[in-house]
Amino acid sequence: MRTIDWRDDRIVLIDQTLLPGTLKIIDIDTVDELIDAIKRLAVRGAPALGVAGALGVALAAKNGNDVPIQADKISKTRPTAVNLSWGVGKVLAKLDQGVEAMVDEAKHILEDDIRRNADLGRRGAQWLIDRLGQPINVHTHCNAGALACVEWGTALGVVRALQERDAIGHVYLDETRPLLQGARLTAWELQQMGIDHTIVVDSAGATVLARGLADAVIVGADRIAANGDVVNKIGTYPLALAAQRAGIPFLVAAPESTIDPDTPDGSAVEIEIRDAAEILGEHTPDGSTALNYAFDVTPADLVTAIVTDERIIDGKPLD
Ligand code: MRU
Repeated sequence: MRTIDWRDDRIVLIDQTLLPGTLKIIDIDTVDELIDAIKRLAVRGAPALGVAGALGVALAAKNGNDVPIQADKISKTRPTAVNLSWGVGKVLAKLDQGVEAMVDEAKHILEDDIRRNADLGRRGAQWLIDRLGQPINVHTHCNAGALACVEWGTALGVVRALQERDAIGHVYLDETRPLLQGARLTAWELQQMGIDHTIVVDSAGATVLARGLADAVIVGADRIAANGDVVNKIGTYPLALAAQRAGIPFLVAAPESTIDPDTPDGSAVEIEIRDAAEILGEHTPDGSTALNYAFDVTPADLVTAIVTDERIIDGKPLD
C-alpha cells in the first residue's frame, strides 16, 4: 500500500495521525485540504512531503487555481524539509506546458520515489555488510520508513534491504517525542515487516549505544546542507554524539532531493518550531512554557556516511 498516491484526479494518502490504531485513507480534493494534512502531519517525512508538494501543484492545476500562488502556499507549509519546495518547484517548472504535463511530472516524481529509495536502501545495506558483516543490529530515530516516502523507506529502507539479505538483527528505536513517530509509526512498520524491535525512550538512545546493543545508527534526513550537515528530527544530534563515543557508524540515508546545495551549512536552515501544546498537557503545571524544536542539526563531522539513490558520500565533502 502506498503512503500517498494520485487517483481519479485527486490525492489519496494514509492519515498517519491515526496510526497504529486505525489505517485510514483520506481523499484530498483541494490545496487547502493538502495544506491542512501537511500541517497536522497526516502526511509527513521528507520524501513523502516532496511527493505531496508535487501532487499538490498538479491538483492546483487540475482545479483551475492560480498555480504559482498555490504552489507558494504549499512550499511554505513546513519550512525544514527541502523536499517539499523541491517537489513543488519540479512541477511548477512545467507550468508553461499545461495541466497534463504538470500531472505527468508529479506522477513521475511519485513513481521515481519508490525506485530511488529501493536503490539507496540496497546501497546502504551493502555498505553496512561490507564493514560490519552480519547480522547487524540497528538503532534508528523518528520514522524514515515507507510512511515517510511513497513506499519502501530511507533509513528503514536500509533495514528492509538488510532483511532481504537475511542480514538484519534487532532494531532499537527511539519513541521520538513529542509526536511519537518512532513508537507509533516505525514500530508499526517493523511489526508489518516481521522484524524484531524494541522501543526505548529518546533519552535512552545513548545508553543503548554505550551498552553495545546496536552496531550502527541509521537515520533519514530532512535537509542535507552543502557542507554535509544533516538536519533531521529533534534528537538525532545527541544520537550522533553517542554513536561517535561508542565508535559505531552513523549512517544517513536520503534521496538526492534532500541535498540542498543552496544551503551552505546547518545554521542556515530554518528549524520548524511547532506548537508548545504538543509538549504541554495535564502532566505539566499551568503557566509553564515549552520550546518545541521539531528538528536539529548534526554536524557533518559526526556523520560516517550519507547514502543516496546515486552514491555513498563517505567522509568526503559533498560536490
Ligand atoms: O516531523 P516529521 O515526522 O515530518 O519528521 C520526519 C523526520 O524527521 C524524518 O526522519 C525525515 O523526514 C526523513 S524521512 C525518510
